[in-house]
Amino acid sequence: MSYELLTAEARRVSAAPEALACGWITLNRPKQLNALNDALMDELGAALLAFDADDGVGCIVITGSEKAFAAGADIAVMAPKTFMDVYKGDFITRNWETIKRVRKPVIAAVSGYALGGGCELAMMCDFIIAADSAKFGQPEIKLGIIPGAGGTQRLPRAVGKAKAMDLALTARMMDAAEAERAGLVSRVVTADKLLDETAAAAAAICEFSLPSVMAAKECVNRAYELPLNEGLLFERRMFHALFASADQKEGMDAFLNKRKPAFKHS
Ligand code: CAA
Repeated sequence: MSYELLTAEARRVSAAPEALACGWITLNRPKQLNALNDALMDELGAALLAFDADDGVGCIVITGSEKAFAAGADIAVMAPKTFMDVYKGDFITRNWETIKRVRKPVIAAVSGYALGGGCELAMMCDFIIAADSAKFGQPEIKLGIIPGAGGTQRLPRAVGKAKAMDLALTARMMDAAEAERAGLVSRVVTADKLLDETAAAAAAICEFSLPSVMAAKECVNRAYELPLNEGLLFERRMFHALFASADQKEGMDAFLNKRKPAFKHS
């Protein structure tokens, strides 16, 4: 498939023979700092679904440029829209939420600005690795609107009410160090190491058994939806289910025999 506003390639990130490839997506609308318009979100959704359906892919990365992961929804496109346009067209929903259907892990590798819809897109990923240049924020209030792609919901879950209110109400940006302290990002690396560090994280995932990787993602996500006992039961059942996989036998046998496992992703 060919894209105009992003690049997408299945990249080998691990030399291990059974490791799966990583679906590597780079947002590429540089003049607008990767501002997210319909065409870009359509392409992103298509690329994500294609990698999710590809048996040779074990994990997906979304990244942007050095200056911007994404500077938000496209303000020039939104400016003339009316209530009827956004309501009847279900703006932000149709093509922005495709990522929620992806069952393989999605890592956001963030350098530079991740603002508004860009911060929200990063938060829709499973975890964020940030360059020390990263700046996160929900500055929609400056435009006379509010975050519309999950900023008021995912941000407080990630960083707590105080910082979420601070960011949404004052429009200030949070740098990478503060984002890591607050729990928004899983790790911070120097900007020149961002892609290598992200590829290494993706490689680790791509070497593991895909069914257990998918189950782990599904279980962690249930923690945000379920009461504790229901979440624990869901986890326990998924844990039990993995004993039906060939890879559980392989992983445990490899440990006991002090060798590297050769997972077959089944
Ligand atoms: N939409 C459309 N165009 C954008 C954009 C956006 N969100 N962000 C940047 N651009 C464009 C600028 O208009 C500019 O275009 P021109 O060269 O044609 O003038 C180009 O990208 C470069 O931007 P700047 O000249 O502003 O670059 P800068 O380095 O001075 O500032 C910035 C960078 C701080 C990120 C600044 O561009 C900015 O504040 N951008 C807007 C951020 C924002 O408000 N995001 C929220 C959008 S609303 C939203 O996302 C709703 C939602 O929840 C889904």
